[in-house]
Amino acid sequence: MNNIAIWYRYFGIPEQTLELETAPVGLLTPGFMRVRMQFSPMNASDLTPITGAYGHRVVPPLVAGYEGVGEVIAAPESWSHLVGKRVLPLRGQGTWQSFVDCRSEFAIPVSDWIPSDLAARAYINPVAALMMLRLYVPEGKRVLLTAAGSDCGLLLGQWAIRLGARSVTGIHRSTAHATRLAACGITSVSQKDAGAIRRFASESDLVFDATGGELATAILQQLPESSTFVCYGLLSGIPFKQQHPRPLVRWFHLRNYLDGLNSRQWHSLFSEIWPLLNTSMYSDSVRYPVTSWKEAICFYREPGRSAKPLLVMN
Ligand SMILES: NC(=O)c1ccc[n+]([C@@H]2O[C@H](COP(=O)([O-])OP(=O)(O)OC[C@H]3O[C@@H](n4cnc5c(N)ncnc54)[C@H](OP(=O)(O)O)[C@@H]3O)[C@@H](O)[C@H]2O)c1
Repeated sequence: MNNIAIWYRYFGIPEQTLELETAPVGLLTPGFMRVRMQFSPMNASDLTPITGAYGHRVVPPLVAGYEGVGEVIAAPESWSHLVGKRVLPLRGQGTWQSFVDCRSEFAIPVSDWIPSDLAARAYINPVAALMMLRLYVPEGKRVLLTAAGSDCGLLLGQWAIRLGARSVTGIHRSTAHATRLAACGITSVSQKDAGAIRRFASESDLVFDATGGELATAILQQLPESSTFVCYGLLSGIPFKQQHPRPLVRWFHLRNYLDGLNSRQWHSLFSEIWPLLNTSMYSDSVRYPVTSWKEAICFYREPGRSAKPLLVMN
């Protein structure tokens, strides 16, 4: 049996660095289950590490991809009830491959009512959004988002409203995102509208920023001292400048919070995520055969897209 996997063996631009490789499937480690992958999405969180942006903790050679869904084809005796069922094989090997082996206790079973293309995207962005909102409670606050058209931004905005935010404003780069933001109850502001950004920033209590660069610097200059600025991404690739000790700036990295969760807490997180996702607006998905991964990246980079590329692994 052969495994097809998308590897990066050194850092670089994903389009130039990734390689599709085929190799025989190895032996299954005791305690692990083997999952035949169906779909794996393409997120910013998958592409950014390939560039070396997190070179201090993510070091190639590695198979790319952090999430996806597949069917269990082999499992230890105590998990044999999951054979033939769909799971998310998380927190282990890269998911952009046909077979993923994962520690059995970390595999998240997927209920029959959840479509596979949604299940494939239930981890990185939903769990990050939920954890950030637990750490930085939005209730009664005026919340400001950047990259608001992103999956993570869209969930942050919708769930902040449910959790009692006084208002949520979303800054977006492409105008294509404005309608969807409005439908979610999020006030949309164009990233080109410097005046509106200054005004909203000066009235914000809590910022979730995924862009860094000039936009983050401009927001920080206007924020009241009492507010909190949470940086969880650097889509511009440019760090921001903080000129004063206040407002508070906090960094969020999902992986820093996962190590502290035991298996029960890890599973209970998803029992919260499924109903939340099922009742939230999320992007559509567009399927690409794994062999067309370059086209998938090309689609991923299109400004204003409202769908996620999903690699079809089998
Ligand atoms: N820290 C963590 O643990 C963690 C966990 C999950 C996600 N994240 C971060 O969350 C962010 C969003 O990820 P995602 O998967 O939700 O993204 P996504 O759905 O793939 O969307 C990417 C979005 O980013 C926008 N964008 C790209 N470059 C930009 C720039 N320079 N300035 C402003 N907007 C820009 C695009 O806007 P247009 O469509 O307008 O071009 C697009 O809406 C990423 O930074 C990711 O690293 C962090």
